Amino acid sequence: MAGFADRLVAWQRQHGRHDLPWQVSDPYAVWVSEIMLQQTQVDTVIPYYVRFLARFPDLASLAEAPEDAVLALWSGLGYYARARNLHAAAKRVLADHGGVFPGDVAAIAALPGIGRSTAAAIAAFAFGGRHAILDGNVKRVFCRLFGVDGWPGEKAVETALWHLAEALLPEREIVPYTQGLMDLGATLCRRSRPDCPCCPFADDCVACRDGRQAELPAARPR
Ligand code: ADE
Repeated sequence: MAGFADRLVAWQRQHGRHDLPWQVSDPYAVWVSEIMLQQTQVDTVIPYYVRFLARFPDLASLAEAPEDAVLALWSGLGYYARARNLHAAAKRVLADHGGVFPGDVAAIAALPGIGRSTAAAIAAFAFGGRHAILDGNVKRVFCRLFGVDGWPGEKAVETALWHLAEALLPEREIVPYTQGLMDLGATLCRRSRPDCPCCPFADDCVACRDGRQAELPAARPR
């Protein structure tokens, strides 16, 4: 699609979210936020994130804390493996990287609890690295926009989506581009009742054109 990245960045600047508490340049803060946001929505995460950063303001304070103190601050967020991995990763950064959060996407992805998309998001937001993200929201956006059929949990479909994500990646403005993908998926291209009339890509979107928003992305086959 012509000008996808430029149009997404323009939309993000005008209509995207700019007041999220983790929109900072501290890699530690970005990392904590991306882990919390893996399985939890923004509105739920915000108070947990604020409390967590107040209690553990930097990587060393997290690494040196007892695990039960970390888990106590996570209580209510769910998916507690995230908190254990976060704590383990902080210790690892202290031991292996001198306490400095790594900027290289492969080093980030090697830490516990960080998959390919989360590593890319951290590298992009904290270091301006040019890496494609592909979380659940972004999969939904791409499936609808480009009419990608098949369940995204299937390996071949996921691989095709990663190729799309890489191909669309702009050379510049990686931060507003990455945030724009997330914002589009969360605020307009919602799973149910997407707000197509407000979408900058409505005229180009396969799902919108064909009225297939409810069918894309395809559900897990059963
Ligand atoms: N979901 C995952 N990462 C996010 C971020 N940085 N901002 C908003 N929503 C997100």
